[in-house]
Amino acid sequence: MNKNIKLVTPIIIAIGLTVPFITLAKEIVIKFSHVTTKTTPKGKGAMLLKKMVDERLNGKVRIEVYPSSQLYGDKAVLKALLLNDVQLAAPSLSKFSKYTKKWALFDLPFLFKNAQALNCFTDSEKGQELLNAIDRKGLKGLGYWLNGMKQISANHPLITPKDAQGLKFRIMSSDVLKAQFEAIGANPQKMSFSEVYNALATGVIDGQENTWSNILSKKFFEVQKDITVSSHGVLGYALITNKRFWNTLPDDIRLELEKIIKEVTAKVTQFALDVAIKDMQTIADSGKTNIHILSPEQKQQWVVAMKPVWAKFENQVGKDNIVVVQQCNAKN
Ligand code: SIN
Repeated sequence: MNKNIKLVTPIIIAIGLTVPFITLAKEIVIKFSHVTTKTTPKGKGAMLLKKMVDERLNGKVRIEVYPSSQLYGDKAVLKALLLNDVQLAAPSLSKFSKYTKKWALFDLPFLFKNAQALNCFTDSEKGQELLNAIDRKGLKGLGYWLNGMKQISANHPLITPKDAQGLKFRIMSSDVLKAQFEAIGANPQKMSFSEVYNALATGVIDGQENTWSNILSKKFFEVQKDITVSSHGVLGYALITNKRFWNTLPDDIRLELEKIIKEVTAKVTQFALDVAIKDMQTIADSGKTNIHILSPEQKQQWVVAMKPVWAKFENQVGKDNIVVVQQCNAKN
């Protein structure tokens, strides 16, 4: 055998192994796992983030988006994030009770007058300070993403709180939401988002609360005869990452990502405000469910029944935060 072949082969193998390794190591891959469909404000935000990163950090960073609980549900994604198995997630603020008690603020019934007031609060100094509440747990909040106001549904009209008595409602994993449904004599059941449709379809639960975009995209309206425009609570998200991963990114890349996230966050707010009206109309036009608009007196009955829940959580969430939300309500 030619002696040179022996010598050259390992060199070729070494080059072959080294080159692809170097190329791969250069590009930072960020996995973004979330639970909603691509058509929701969060789904659109994730895709826009990917697109802008492709355009502005081409070859340096690539975002892979996994929607619809394809990779993880919201409970598992927080653990996966801490293990750095994924690097971005945007769970509902209602799902962080293991990491901070302060974000329970966002679940207080009838605290936020509308989605604009939520946006005003999250943009405020207090709101931005609150975003850091999860920092010492190894997570980092990069921004708030908006969805909108939650509506309540069941298989009969929910016109006054009495109509909900004894019914089983799916809730996210939040003690405020539990207290809210207990306050109206209902039976709250904590359940992951991906299980809600089947639970409604099979009668495991009687009702649910969610935003128009989630009710539409997850087809809840097809298995709920009646939806009440209650707007009793808000659904917002924290776009989060693994703190250590974020801090070890090269400075220029981290700064550019933060700039892009700021721009995408503003767009998500716009998506959310736009789709809420459009999605409600699509559900109404489907003819598959009845939508009930409450009179001011009927709405007041829900407020009176649910608002006492605040007293139990006021200290935990910070009365100063509630004051800022009320200032935002006055402006919106
Ligand atoms: C989501 O919008 O991320 C899901 C909220 C839910 O679990 O209801």
